[in-house]
Amino acid sequence: MPHLLSLIREDVTNVMDHDPAAKSRLEVFLCYSGLHAVWFYRMNHWLWNHGLFLIARWLSQVARWLTGIEIHPGARLGRRLFIDHGMGVVIGETSIIGDDVTLYQGVTLGGTGKEHGKRHPTLEDNVVVGGGAKILGNIIVGKNCRIGAGSVVLRNVPENSTVVGVPGHIVFREGKRVVITDPKQINDPLSEALASVASEVNKLRERVQQLEGAEHTTEPVPESLQRLMDDLDYQI
Ligand SMILES: CC(C)(COP(=O)(O)OP(=O)(O)OC[C@H]1O[C@@H](n2cnc3c(N)ncnc32)[C@H](O)[C@@H]1OP(=O)(O)O)[C@@H](O)C(=O)NCCC(=O)NCCS
Repeated sequence: MPHLLSLIREDVTNVMDHDPAAKSRLEVFLCYSGLHAVWFYRMNHWLWNHGLFLIARWLSQVARWLTGIEIHPGARLGRRLFIDHGMGVVIGETSIIGDDVTLYQGVTLGGTGKEHGKRHPTLEDNVVVGGGAKILGNIIVGKNCRIGAGSVVLRNVPENSTVVGVPGHIVFREGKRVVITDPKQINDPLSEALASVASEVNKLRERVQQLEGAEHTTEPVPESLQRLMDDLDYQI
């Protein structure tokens, strides 16, 4: 609390340094609701740590009403957190956020509903989370990671990685492109469904061939279906 003013100054400077749209310190101070939410949080977290749980929760709801950003007072946020645009951001009670993290609108740091205790993610320093991304469960997103807009991240992410997609998978690591060769690495429920459809088609094709007689020639299998059938060993 005693440092609140110096933290406010630091947050404004941080936005001036990183957002090309910011024209003056006064504009940043008055118009950036992501900063207002973080300043509210700093006060609410202090109240929470001093056992004033209800007032802290109530003020976090007031902040949500004013800014559209919900930060649980029990969460632990580092320095210079920049929530850009902000509307719809949710940061759960046991989330931990390092320094110099950027979150865009619609980001959720949430639980999966299956865990107790520490059930929200930890974001290490310098992570950027794109608009609408959901990071769920007690997982760790390592330093300098970038999470693509709209991704759903359910597993730990190693440092210096870029993750995209639903479910999220790594496309860059340590500056190098990561090419997925094994469908298991994506763990997408849809690929499981496609694999079983392909398996069923394969069985039916063989049965039709038997019924029509060995001498009857059939149409060649389309290349995309053939590739899917070749990949059946990779079924999740
Ligand atoms: C994830 C992100 C950081 C990657 O940027 P990058 O390092 O320049 O990577 P690229 O654009 O070269 O994309 C790499 C691959 O990931 C794919 N990809 C990128 N972003 C994606 C996303 N959000 N969802 C799904 N796939 C994505 C690209 O299509 C590309 O795939 P391909 O090579 O098979 O075509 C960026 O795309 C992103 O989502 N940034 C968030 C920005 C944001 O939320 N802004 C809000 C402003 S209001």
